[in-house]
Amino acid sequence: MSAGRGVLVTGGASGIGRAVAAAFRAAGDRVAIADVNGEAAASAAKELDAFAVAADVADAASVAAGVGRAADELGGIDVLVNNAGIVAGGGPLVDLPLQVFDAVVAVNLRGTFTVTQAVAARMIAAGRGGRIVNISSIGARQPTAGLGHYEATKAAVDALTRTAALELAAHGIRVNGVAPGPVRTPMTAGLISDPAARAAWESRIPDGRIATPDDITPLVVFLASDQAAHITGAVVQVDGGQLLT
Ligand SMILES: NC(=O)c1ccc[n+]([C@@H]2O[C@H](COP(=O)([O-])OP(=O)(O)OC[C@H]3O[C@@H](n4cnc5c(N)ncnc54)[C@H](O)[C@@H]3O)[C@@H](O)[C@H]2O)c1
Repeated sequence: MSAGRGVLVTGGASGIGRAVAAAFRAAGDRVAIADVNGEAAASAAKELDAFAVAADVADAASVAAGVGRAADELGGIDVLVNNAGIVAGGGPLVDLPLQVFDAVVAVNLRGTFTVTQAVAARMIAAGRGGRIVNISSIGARQPTAGLGHYEATKAAVDALTRTAALELAAHGIRVNGVAPGPVRTPMTAGLISDPAARAAWESRIPDGRIATPDDITPLVVFLASDQAAHITGAVVQVDGGQLLT
């Protein structure tokens, strides 16, 4: 594995996270893929010449151990991408089982919080600054019926992005968010394979197409780069114009 920065991508075994891991590898960075699916993380890491870390972001002990392992393998973490996320189900809030709500909060919000805590503490101790990019969703700002539980966690991630940016700026750590619209990944495969559901999603996107993970990765890499040196606390959408509607 080449030199470069140490990059930790949570949920990096699939979809957007995997594409993000590949983009940082292509830029010459060292990458650790942390995923609750240890087998998938190992296989992605093998293909990308990255490190695999089996870790569940919903479990604070697993986060502490996983971040420690990633930091050891990478020789320190310079960039964190908080990408692990789930939808876990859907439905009108009056019917939504609380287990679904709790599962989404545990991964998307609590997981982003605990991983940020663990990595930022190490970045501060190392004294060489850092970059954190949180993968949000335009759902944080534009509602879709049936997804309120998920969207609430992403709005909370946006709030956390701003507070973390404010608190960590003095340590040279920038914190930003990327908010995709719908993206073709295993998370959305069921929806996209149903022609009616797919047409309904596409009809909301001014440029008329659902994104691929490669539409999302350039902004993540940019926000983690020195070219974005004066950008912190921003959450930027990549949505083909959907937030304009
Ligand atoms: N696909 C979309 O349309 C879309 C749109 C906006 C935002 N997002 C966000 O992008 C991120 C990635 O989504 P995706 O579409 O690539 O999904 P995906 O399901 O393809 O990949 C998610 C990865 O996260 C891992 N993961 C799940 N729970 C975890 C946990 N507790 N600990 C560690 N890893 C865990 C999974 O094993 C999987 O490898 C998520 O935060 C999602 O909310 C996705």
